[in-house]
Parts: sequence; C-alpha cells; structure tokens
Amino acid sequence: MTSGACPIDHSAAGGRPVSANAAAFNPFGEAYQADPPESLRWSRDEEPVFYSPEIGYWVVTRYDDVKAVFRDNVTFSPSIALEKITPVSEEATATLARYGYAMNRTLVNEDEPAHMPRRRALLDPFTPARLAEHEPMVRRLARDYVDRFVDAGEADLVDEMLWEVPLTVALHFLGVPEEDMATLRQYSIAHTVNTWGRPSPEEQVAVAEAVGRFWQYAGEVLEKIRRDPSGPGWIPFSIRAQRQQPEVITDSYLHSIMMAGIVAAHETTANAAANAIKLLLENRAVWRELCAEPSLIPNAVEECLRHSGSVAAWRRLVTEDTTIGGVPIPRGAKLLIVNSSANRDERHFDNPDDFDIRRENTTDHLTFGYGSHQCMGKNLARMELQVFLGELTTRLPHLELVPGQRFTYLPNTSFRGPEHLWVRWDPAANPERADPAVLRRLTPVRIGEPSARAITRTVTVQSVEPAADGIVTLTLADPSGRPLPAWSPGAHVDLHLDGLSRQYSLCGEAGEAGVYRIAVLREPESRGGSRYVHERLRPGARLSMRGPRNHFRLATGARHYVLVAGGIGITPIIAMADAVRAAGASYEVHYCGRDRATMAFLDRLHRDHGDRLHLYPGSEGARLDVSTLAGADDGTQVYACGPKRLLTALERQARSWPEDTLHIEHFTTTRQELDPAVEHGFDVELADSGLTVHVAPDQTVLAALRAANIDIPSDCEEGLCGTCEAPVLDGEVDHRDRVLTTAERAANSMMLTCCSRACGSTLTLGL
Ligand code: HEM
Repeated sequence: MTSGACPIDHSAAGGRPVSANAAAFNPFGEAYQADPPESLRWSRDEEPVFYSPEIGYWVVTRYDDVKAVFRDNVTFSPSIALEKITPVSEEATATLARYGYAMNRTLVNEDEPAHMPRRRALLDPFTPARLAEHEPMVRRLARDYVDRFVDAGEADLVDEMLWEVPLTVALHFLGVPEEDMATLRQYSIAHTVNTWGRPSPEEQVAVAEAVGRFWQYAGEVLEKIRRDPSGPGWIPFSIRAQRQQPEVITDSYLHSIMMAGIVAAHETTANAAANAIKLLLENRAVWRELCAEPSLIPNAVEECLRHSGSVAAWRRLVTEDTTIGGVPIPRGAKLLIVNSSANRDERHFDNPDDFDIRRENTTDHLTFGYGSHQCMGKNLARMELQVFLGELTTRLPHLELVPGQRFTYLPNTSFRGPEHLWVRWDPAANPERADPAVLRRLTPVRIGEPSARAITRTVTVQSVEPAADGIVTLTLADPSGRPLPAWSPGAHVDLHLDGLSRQYSLCGEAGEAGVYRIAVLREPESRGGSRYVHERLRPGARLSMRGPRNHFRLATGARHYVLVAGGIGITPIIAMADAVRAAGASYEVHYCGRDRATMAFLDRLHRDHGDRLHLYPGSEGARLDVSTLAGADDGTQVYACGPKRLLTALERQARSWPEDTLHIEHFTTTRQELDPAVEHGFDVELADSGLTVHVAPDQTVLAALRAANIDIPSDCEEGLCGTCEAPVLDGEVDHRDRVLTTAERAANSMMLTCCSRACGSTLTLGL
C-alpha cells in the first residue's frame, strides 16, 4: 500500500472502497476492447456491481441485475443512452452549434411518460406483418453485393457487403429517397465516434463537423419527405402519424429519428453480421451444419447475437436512491449495463462461453435490451442476418477466414464488430458454376425469434436391440462423440423418422452419461415412424432430433411415490424409478402389460427394483386395481404413463385423492380450433413493455403477442410442452393446457399463451 492521498474519489462510489479490479477497469483499454465479457469475468464472479473511477460509471455485469435495470425504466432512466461518454471539447461544441445540432430525445433515450405513447404511435412499421414487405428488398441487396465479389476468391466482407447492405436497408426502411442515400451513407460513421468513442481533441472537431453535416442533411431530407409523405417507410409513416398526434410526435423528434434511426438500424446490424460470420467461420463445424441444414439459421443468428452481440453495453441514469444486486446506488449515478457480460453469465446460461446453436434459452439474451425500450428493429435485424447467412452458406459454403489476420475494433464502449473481415475461397468450386439452380434456392426467413421447433440436433444410432416382443431400444449418440446434454426423468425427445416427428421418453440408466436410450414399440397402425425403426433403422444411421424437453417432471421431496406404467409407458416410469431409488425415497412401481414377453426391461426392473415392483401381465390374469393405490395418502405422488384406458381410470380414481397427487404423461392435446362464436376477445396488458395487446376471439395470446413484436418462445403450440409460459400479474386465466398442475392454476401466476385465455376482459402479464 502506498502512502499519501488515495487518487480515487470514493464519494462518487457512495463511500465504498474501490477494489483493485474496479480501479483498473477501463472500457477503452485493450482487454475490454478485445473481449468485453471475458474482461469482466472477475466482476461476474466477485463484484457484479462496481464503481469505475476511470469513467465515473457504476458497472453492472450479471444477467439478473442487467435485466432488472432494463426492466425498470423509471428508476433507471434511459436519458443518458446517447450522451457522449467522452466530454465534448468547447471547440467541438461550438462546431456542432454552428450546424444547429439539436439531437435531443429520440425513442431510445426518452423518459416516461413521453416515451411510451410515442413508441406505440410508431410501432406499426416494425410489426412482423409490415416487416415481411421488406424481405424481397433485403434479399435483392444481399444477392447484388455477393454477385460483385463471388468470383474474386477473396473479399473483406465488412467493406464489400456488411457495412453497406444494412445501411441501405436502413435507408429503405426509413423511406429515404434513393437520390439522398449516398450522402447519408457517408455521414453515418462519424456519429458512432461522436457518441460512444474516445476521440482526441483534434478528432473531436473533425467528428463534430461530420455530425453537424449529417444533422443538417437529415433535416433537408426530412423536409423533402414532408412535401410528399404518402410513400412507404418509417419516416413517411411518422410524418402521417404526426398529423394525428402532433403533441406526441414533435418536429424536433422527427429530425432526431431521421438521423438516429439510421445509426440505430445500421451499425448495430452491420456489426452483428460481421461478428456472426466471424464466429461461424471460427467454428467451422457449425458453419458446415448451416450449409447442410439451412433451417438452423434462425437459431444460429440468435446464438451469435448472444455469444458475440454487436451492442456490448448500454447506459442508464439512476433517478432515486436504490440498490442493484444488493449494492446501494445513489440517485444521479450513471450505469454502464454490460449486456454482453450478462449474455455470458453462467447463472443464466449453461456453459455460456460455448457457441451452441441448439441452446434452449438462447433467445433470453439481452443484446436487444429488454422491456419497454427493447429494440424495435430487432426483427428487421434478425431478417437481415438470416438473409446474409442464407446467401453466403448457399453460394460460398467453402468460405474461410483468411488466416493470420488481426481483428481491430473501433474503440468505444457499446458498439462492437470487427472493422475488417477478410475471407477467401476457391471460385472454381462455387456451387453455382456447376449448378446454376443453386441461385434459385431460397432459404426461408423467419420473422421474429426462432421457433424451438427448428432447434434440431443430429444423432447417430449406436445400437438397435430387441427389448421385448415388438419393442426395440435405440442408443443415440452425438456423431462427433461429444456427450449429449444431461436429461432428467420424464424427459422426451422428438425424432424425425421417415418424414414424421415422433416423441419418445428417455429411459437410459444413470451410468450411460452422454448417450440417450429410447424404446420404440412397433405400432400395428403405424403411419411409418415405428415401422421405419423396426424394419429399416440400422446402427450408424443419422437422425434429426429435438429436445430433450421435460413436461412430466418428477417433483422432489414427496413422502412416497407410486409409479404406474402400462405397456410402452414404462419408458419414463423406469427412469423415474431409478431416480427415486437413487434419492433413497420410498416408492412402488406398478407395471401392466399384455404378457411378459411384450413387457420391456423386466430384467432391469427386477434387478434394480425387485421388492418394489408389481407386475400385471394380463395373460396371467393379473389386473391392477387402481382403487388400491396409495394415492389418497397425504404426501404421496402418483406418476403414470400408459394406454388411455389406464390413464382414464386413474384420473377417475384421483378425484378422491388430494389435489395434484396424480401426474400423467400426455402426448395428445385436447385443444380445439378457436371458434369465434364461442370465444370472446380481451386485452392483455404487458407490464414490462408498457403495451396493451388485444387478443381477438379467434386468436391465441401467443399469436397476438407475436403480432405486436413481443418475443415469446414456443414449441408444441398445443398446450403440452410449457415453452410459451408467461407470468400472470393480474386477471383470471382460463387455463386450457395440459401442463400446469391444479395448484399452479389456482395460484394464477402463470399461463401458457399458446392455448389459455382470459376469463374476463383483461389480463396483465409480466412481459
Ligand atoms: C433500441 C440493439 C437493430 C431500431 C435498441 C436498444 C438496443 C438495441 C440495445 C436499447 C434497448 C433498451 O434500452 O432496452 C440493437 C441491435 C441491433 C439493432 C443489437 C442489430 C443486431 C435495429 C434496427 C432498427 C433498430 C435494424 C431499425 C430501425 C431501434 C429503435 C430503438 C432501439 C427505434 C429504440 C426503442 C425504444 O427506446 O423504445 N436497439 N438494435 N434497431 N433500436 Fe435497435
């Protein structure tokens, strides 16, 4: 410890000691610039909220804290989001003043109550239905730019495509006249340096000049559009909306979005595209997978945004004394909320540094922010990224990074992407030379966040073995030998078999880490799935699989477990039996079947559960009498899987048992089409987003949320899987799913948006 006065101003840190790591933190330093989330690993582990004397900001790095800050835009005002992080010199200020620069509030830095009415008034051009209209334009641009270099064999993708296409898309989206696009393009970069960078005093003046000219020109273009605002685009739309609500959409505001809209839509997306392609080419196996299976692209885009997003950090101003993650933060404090660090927080994402395009919760990333200011253009950006990847994987699957290049980043706290991205390939091997039809192959674009349905994994069949008459067990493994993700009893996977998707419960033993075992019954009425497995599937075959997912979870801590299986329903039940035995719990297993020869896993069951096992082979006259089961005993949990007759009998019996004693594995839904003559419409208020969405009588809540640009993951969309669950804050829910228990329904704190509805006229959701 050196003697003398401490150089750090502790008053700004609320009198708290500043740790050595916090004192050393510098977002303009090499470590942060090279890899923001890595440079803050120490913080996520040791000091997730700290004061940085270097920049005078509090820095927030963990997922839950960053999301909590985004969520509360009143305590944490966005007003400083565009404030210059490096104070502006007097000369630069004078330069900006000369141009009448008055960039004030746009959407992103506007406080309530002004922000939300404005956002609502301007949202329509961002809804999925409107965005779909831009898809042909985005495709045309991507095609034209790749045409220019496809035969060259080497290109800087940033300079030759990724910088310009998103800018041109942004200008089209805004509705800028073609003749003004070139000039506006030139001005765009200066704005980033002005806002998020650390320019030297001399550079500041040059940057201010460029920004001033950008401002002035944006004003002129706005005036031009104002003379005829009937055309397509966000600015003409906003001018028309101004006529309806002049007090909400002011003149100065229009001028600001004319300029800030370009920046918001351009650099974020250009950088995201460069980051994504770099990451994919560095992970060549994944790139190859996308080339072979383009349906993975939407999910790959999302994982790229999580792993290497283009907005590394964002800012908020604290409006009242508060705490973040338990740390007291004074009113007036400025926050640097590092969303790129949150996206790598192991408390939220398993193995967060891994690049896994099948990650189940990828879409939880905070690269687009969260809550009422969440990026309005996220689905335009997603569309662009999908189109770029579709075009490049189709036309240049043999693309590779030029080895040995050093990636440089424009020094700034928030926007992140390599300045250059050199790639090379052998033009003689371009697929379109051998087969021009390649150019007609369009990779479909998904507008919105990716569907869990698309998250498939390839597995190899390791073995196919008989398990009983008419039943085989399959052992499935990752083709590259990597362990498959861990699973829990009750989990199932979806296998794509001969054009059909079929669900199978996992039934492996605890020692079989890294591979999956399923059992497949040959169904006499098989439409192909089980027949294909029994007749044609051989070891070495590759299958496409989704999951594992679990909507038949075993609750821990019951006093006693009754596990009931009928026929092939033994598959989830045997995994549950293994788990309760391993946990040392009290349990019994009841297994019904036609005859012993058709009952799978008898040896294993006898070996592991001998004294707990009750067998009911029908051919021997044995029958399970469900009225004798111990379901009525308090603290008992009954889990059952099997034929409908058995489950119906159990459901009937369960009426005399305490609520939520019986848990049944359903693979079929009771969901009907929505009949507008029977259903009623209602409003859904979204507390975090500040929106009210109307759900029409023939529409699901999920569909209405998606149409309003609210991300919500879903999978089965039949009330079976639980993926589309949303927190309920107020209003009574008409539950129609097969996932929530009676107690969960009674608590009224959750709903499945794919099928459940409102009993009354309003619901409030925590979204
Ligand atoms: C806001 C990121 C593309 C328009 C934001 C915010 C972030 C962000 C972090 C602030 C969120 C918050 O405060 O909670 C990104 C990224 C993009 C992208 C990473 C590309 C990958 C776009 C595009 C547009 C756009 C293409 C199209 C015009 C906006 C607007 C806002 C915004 C209008 C302000 C919303 C509000 O405050 O209500 N974006 N953005 N963004 N973005 Fe994006």
